Amino acid sequence: MRRIQTFSAMILLVSLFLIFFYSTLHLQTANTLRVASEKPPKQLDLHAQDSDVKHPSTPEGFTTTDLNVHGISISDELRRVIPKNGAYWNRLLFSALRSLDEGENPLRNEYPWPVCRQENQDLLRINVHDFNSYPVLFQAFLQGMNCRSPPILISQPDRCSSGGKGGNNQTFLLFAIKSIPPNFEQRQAVRETWGREGVYQHGLRVRIVFLLGASSQDDPDLSRLLSHEAALYKDLLQWDFQDTLLNLTLKMNMLLKWTVKHCPQASFVFSGDDDVFVNTAALLTYLQTLDASKASQLYVGHVISSASPLRDPKSKYYIPPSFYDGPYPPYAGGGGFVISGSLLQPLYFISRVIPFFPIDDVYMGLCTKALEVSPEAHQRFQTFDVKEQDRENLCVHKEHLLLHQRSPQHIKRMWRGISSPLLTC
Ligand SMILES: *[C@@H]1O[C@H](CO)[C@@H](O)[C@H](O)[C@H]1NC(C)=O
Ligand SMILES: *[C@@H]1O[C@H](CO)[C@@H](O)[C@H](O)[C@H]1NC(C)=O
Repeated sequence: MRRIQTFSAMILLVSLFLIFFYSTLHLQTANTLRVASEKPPKQLDLHAQDSDVKHPSTPEGFTTTDLNVHGISISDELRRVIPKNGAYWNRLLFSALRSLDEGENPLRNEYPWPVCRQENQDLLRINVHDFNSYPVLFQAFLQGMNCRSPPILISQPDRCSSGGKGGNNQTFLLFAIKSIPPNFEQRQAVRETWGREGVYQHGLRVRIVFLLGASSQDDPDLSRLLSHEAALYKDLLQWDFQDTLLNLTLKMNMLLKWTVKHCPQASFVFSGDDDVFVNTAALLTYLQTLDASKASQLYVGHVISSASPLRDPKSKYYIPPSFYDGPYPPYAGGGGFVISGSLLQPLYFISRVIPFFPIDDVYMGLCTKALEVSPEAHQRFQTFDVKEQDRENLCVHKEHLLLHQRSPQHIKRMWRGISSPLLTC
């Protein structure tokens, strides 16, 4: 009898131990993106999912059914362009596609913003074997690459519905300009020239927002100046993340999110830098003369069509081979491109599935590839510069839709010039 009791007690202990052991195991896998899993991918078919399955939602409220409801699917072409290999980003992409395929939420591992970077440390240690050899800024990018919900510091929820006396307040073109907090002069030059808000030819309404991140701790505190500027012009949007080169994809994502929510009726959105020169009237004419099918699928700019990652660690756009391996899809240079308003919501949903890439315009190329929207090359968008001898040439400025790298003074001078009725080209 005694022996039987001891025996059952032992069985009980062993089962308890096993239960405990398996539950920790489960926790571990649940907390880790299973990027190393060797399961072969099935064909992705978002429409074939069981509609009764409840999908977990993220803090953003995103579910995979959002993609279904809006009839958005991820193109097979993306799979063909992106090699399936051991690089981290490539593994993340295919893992996300596999999750979608299985009806899971690819973003189930998104941590809340304040702890996100910290929580991602383990993930990186496990998945990126040479993480410590990455440049410091690149390491910072990786730590935050699935932190997608920075708090908004300055918002303008009424931006797109204000100023509509007489009924017509439908935004035809929204200028969404990437700026940084100290660039007061650049923003002012843009407001006074090509970015002036108002109703242009044929009643087309143009609006503008500037997108800002936050200053770093070492920068002078500009927050009071910025809130003054925001109150005065009501065209600033600011989020609480460091305004750095490798955070531009996050900024682009915040633009999509903001526009989908607050400016959903905009016909076109121009995304660009605060040091470009735009011929607004010519751009509006171009956009207005597009036929309807093209106007709803537009992604136009200076197209870079067969680029690959730069592998020189000293380059501004360096990409470590163990992070991304493969060519870039064609994309429009980030200095300035135009995209149809109707593509923003699909892009925003798609961007919840495609892992962040450190270069914002390449990221846009990846997301549009997933939607099977091809960038349209346009000779009159020049995101690199024109010939040195043409930098002061007014006719060259008049004939282009966009030129890059202009000082505020140069923008003012050229704008005055091309607006002159005396100019003959
Ligand atoms: C236009 O403005 C009015 C108020 O001025 C607002 O109620 C309406 O929603 C706006 N329409 C659009 C399309 O934003
Ligand atoms: C992006 O912003 C976050 C939040 O401010 C910061 O911690 C991170 O270092 C930034 N990333 C890069 C690559 O600069």
